[in-house]
Amino acid sequence: MEKKKFYYIETFGCQMNVHDSEKIAGMLIDLGYCETAQKERADIIVFNTCCIRETAELKIMAKIGDLKALKKKNKELIIVVCGCMTQQQGMADLLKKRFPFVNLVIGTHNLDLLEEYVKSYTGSKFKSIVLEKEQEITENTKIYRTNHKNAFVNIMYGCNNFCTYCIVPYVRGRERSRKVEDIVREVEELAKENKYSQITLLGQNVNSYGLDFKDNKTNFVYLLDKLCKIKGDFKISFMSSHPKDFSNELIDFIASHEKMSRAIHLPVQSGSDEVLKRMNRRYTSSHYKSLVDEIYKKIKGVSLTTDIIVGFPGESEKDFNDTCDLLRYCKFSSIFGFVYSKRNGTPAATFSDQVPYKVKKERITKLFDLQHEIQRIELSSLIGKTLECTIERDEKGRFIAKTFNNKSIKLNGENYTIGDKKSVLVKEINKNELIGEIA
Ligand code: SAH
Ligand code: SF4
Ligand code: F3S
Repeated sequence: MEKKKFYYIETFGCQMNVHDSEKIAGMLIDLGYCETAQKERADIIVFNTCCIRETAELKIMAKIGDLKALKKKNKELIIVVCGCMTQQQGMADLLKKRFPFVNLVIGTHNLDLLEEYVKSYTGSKFKSIVLEKEQEITENTKIYRTNHKNAFVNIMYGCNNFCTYCIVPYVRGRERSRKVEDIVREVEELAKENKYSQITLLGQNVNSYGLDFKDNKTNFVYLLDKLCKIKGDFKISFMSSHPKDFSNELIDFIASHEKMSRAIHLPVQSGSDEVLKRMNRRYTSSHYKSLVDEIYKKIKGVSLTTDIIVGFPGESEKDFNDTCDLLRYCKFSSIFGFVYSKRNGTPAATFSDQVPYKVKKERITKLFDLQHEIQRIELSSLIGKTLECTIERDEKGRFIAKTFNNKSIKLNGENYTIGDKKSVLVKEINKNELIGEIA
């Protein structure tokens, strides 16, 4: 009997990468591999990398270094490094120099070549396949979905925005939208499987979906309208949005469609107009606040989340305070806060007035403390309220009740059935966690 072969994939970065790893798993399963959670057992190890911040990159570099020992023990082991990090200029050469035991370095524009490579692998030495330009979108890729509640669906690739701090446009290329009919077909198939409570549409800036077709018809709302007509018990969410393109038409659409998730992620990055300008975000804080006003007014029970960068070059104490004011105004249900990280090749890396690390650290701590306090006040206002929820388990395996806008309420006891719809009374909060019982 032929020996079973195993793959091990480790994913860094955003949902886009998580979903790419689902495609890589699909290819490897097709080639006869089975999944393993143990590196030591694997016949092929794939690192799907991210380079959004220096910390991500350093961590990955160290982890690649650790693979040397495994390769020594098992000469047959295939090691693949792919994803955003590899697409950076000069990175393939650097990896070759530092980690000659890696077998394949493959860029973001040609991930499908991974299957060909593994199929025809004959023990070759270091090889890199990094194409400079984005390719045609490939359809009909096999996907092995690893999240059993939430299915990711790409609607577009790349980014045209060139925010001055961000590496993504350089490593993911220009915006390319998938055809409406291809997306509809994929979502129809997922709906038929009848096991996903959420379908998340992925793109770096989903609000500019379809504009590259230049047909004066296709846009994000047009796509959502088609998707909302698909029968099935699932919510549609999307990420990420860019405030400059988040239209009133979209707000109205979400407000009037039950299928649309009430959890919206709308990255603001900073509350200072000066900083936003130097970030090339192309909106002001008052534009952002007016969007938030519209969203709260029209979309009942919405929960908003955002991304913030502190310590962008030139960020003064006043700029930082403007960001704090914006948090107080918008009352996000949670935030993702980051310390600015210099990325080679981006404009902001050459800005002269870089903020010292100590100041950045102080600001991020202040930011999280402030947000914590805002959340505590917001959550306290829910005590005594009864909310319609679906029973789920959290990542620790505990039973929780999820509201339609993605808030979690911890339930005591074990007598619940996953997927049940229940009215839940919020009793108290403990360390920013809601605690409740079935009403
Ligand atoms: N396309 C998405 C996500 C981009 S990356 C969007 O525009 O929202 C996710 C987040 O990482 C960004 O929103 C930003 O807050 C953060 N980020 C990007 N580049 C960064 C850098 N150089 N340093 C620190 N944080 C960064
Ligand atoms: Fe990066 Fe800006 Fe594009 Fe988001 S919109 S991926 S932050 S360049
Ligand atoms: Fe995502 Fe990181 Fe690439 S955030 S797009 S995996 S650089």
